[in-house]
Amino acid sequence: MQREQEKDEDDDEIVCLDESFFINRDYQITTFKFGPQVLNLLCLQSASTDYDLTGQIVWPGAVLLNNYLSQNSEMLKGRSVIELGSGIGVTGILCSRFCDEVVLTDHNDEVLEILNKNIELQSSSGNSSYAGLTAEKLEWGNKDDIEQILQKHPRGFDIILGADICFQQSSIPLLFDTVERILQFRAGQCRFVLAYVSRAKVMDVMVINEAVRHGLDVKEVIGTRSIISNLEGVIFEITLKQASEF
Ligand SMILES: C[S@@+](CC[C@H](N)C(=O)[O-])C[C@H]1O[C@@H](n2cnc3c(N)ncnc32)[C@H](O)[C@@H]1O
Repeated sequence: MQREQEKDEDDDEIVCLDESFFINRDYQITTFKFGPQVLNLLCLQSASTDYDLTGQIVWPGAVLLNNYLSQNSEMLKGRSVIELGSGIGVTGILCSRFCDEVVLTDHNDEVLEILNKNIELQSSSGNSSYAGLTAEKLEWGNKDDIEQILQKHPRGFDIILGADICFQQSSIPLLFDTVERILQFRAGQCRFVLAYVSRAKVMDVMVINEAVRHGLDVKEVIGTRSIISNLEGVIFEITLKQASEF
């Protein structure tokens, strides 16, 4: 009887830890400067390795894209933008200073949480541009996710942005399925601005091949090829083939 009671007590002590217990949430306010633009955002200082939490830090592709956008901010004025794989939101939040509307997206719930906190931070710091800033769940290749977003935004988007989102081979065809859908929705009035960071030759080839397989035209933006965090980065402008003059 006493043994049974002890066993019950031992069982009570067994605590089931789900994966969220191991997630690093040591987010710190960090200051980022892109030309004259200064952003204060919550992020981790180094990436987690356990789960798909690449979005908790800022990647070199975002630095490349944000510097380019801050130098070419006229291309954003009055535009509507959707960002894919936003992570903590450093690119989309910069764009909200110039654009009419910015939808930041990611597939990871933990990342969406920090993304929403960074959006709230914009409103609490009195930044008026946060008004057109929202976050949505969007998994590349998931038709329901993208159709729901397009239903909420029936005029579609002028620009799709992606910073450092080509790092996993299996997700590239799905990424381009989603990109093609958004480009087609505006029938040639939309372009995909991708900050690509080269880490493997196989990925360099795959990105271009998948774009072409989806009927897209890829142009390197002259003057953007540069070394960033010891890696080669470049910005591509990707459009529907018949709309490449846009
Ligand atoms: C390397 S991080 C880049 C984050 C941010 N753009 C930057 O440059 O700092 C890649 C981001 O894409 C998101 N992601 C990865 N696979 C995805 C998928 N299949 N669908 C949607 N988002 C995805 C990750 O959650 C992560 O936030």
